[in-house]
Amino acid sequence: MQEVTTIRALRAALAGAPRPVGLVPTMGALHAGHLSLAERARAECATVVMSIFVNPTQFGPHEDYARYPRPIEHDRELARAAGVDVLFVPPVEEMYPPGAASWVEVTGLSARWEGEHRPGHFRGVATIVLKLFLAALPDRAYFGEKDYQQLRVVERLAADFLPGLVIVPCPTVREPDGLARSSRNVYLTPEQREQATALYRALWHAQELLAAGERSAPALEAAMRRVLLAVPGLRLDYAAVVDAATLEPLRVVDRPARALVAARLGDVRLIDNLALQPPA
Ligand code: PAF
Repeated sequence: MQEVTTIRALRAALAGAPRPVGLVPTMGALHAGHLSLAERARAECATVVMSIFVNPTQFGPHEDYARYPRPIEHDRELARAAGVDVLFVPPVEEMYPPGAASWVEVTGLSARWEGEHRPGHFRGVATIVLKLFLAALPDRAYFGEKDYQQLRVVERLAADFLPGLVIVPCPTVREPDGLARSSRNVYLTPEQREQATALYRALWHAQELLAAGERSAPALEAAMRRVLLAVPGLRLDYAAVVDAATLEPLRVVDRPARALVAARLGDVRLIDNLALQPPA
């Protein structure tokens, strides 16, 4: 595995590299979710690039940028074991040179949900993801469904700027009790870790009710809220049933839909989602 820290060195490493080139963008603190993206890329691509960059512009002023875990030695070992060919670990100044003043905004898809609760977040995500795409010029790029709204924003971004690039959505990797794998899970106390399963339980409850014939989106949302608000101290940001493509709220689940939840336990913010399958 070759490790590079500049865009110039990344391009040199990829010049003449066998194609397809697959890119796995990450912020490090790698876990089974990231490794599943790398495995998929390894299976589908001749060259696998992973980026590790904790992107400051996607964190709000009161969010966890400073304390975000950065276990680079361990990440390096995991990336190597996952078969990554090129590891791109740029410093902040490489991605945001002095005076950086250009931003990418994906309108519409970025507006609601995370966009509402984390103003500026998707502008930071879209900007860094486009910079990574332009630096690596991959044929395929791998994103987890865990961040479903991010996935939809990135799909739009790729379609708008790099139409040949294939965005590969990868299923959420979960703990045995259903909790979605996330780099932020390490912040949870043992009690919060148990309480955190409420997100997945709420999503499943909505799916079960739907399978039993409840197609009203507000009724499914109310059912998710009941599960979540039964957890002492949990602060709910949203529990929504949305059109899987547009992310607009639904009244009736009569098309491919997604249940989305976001909540805080102490100062840890968790998100999760589930594809909703209406009965045939
Ligand atoms: O999902 C993430 O880890 C980040 O949002 C990403 C896509 C690497 C951009 O910083």
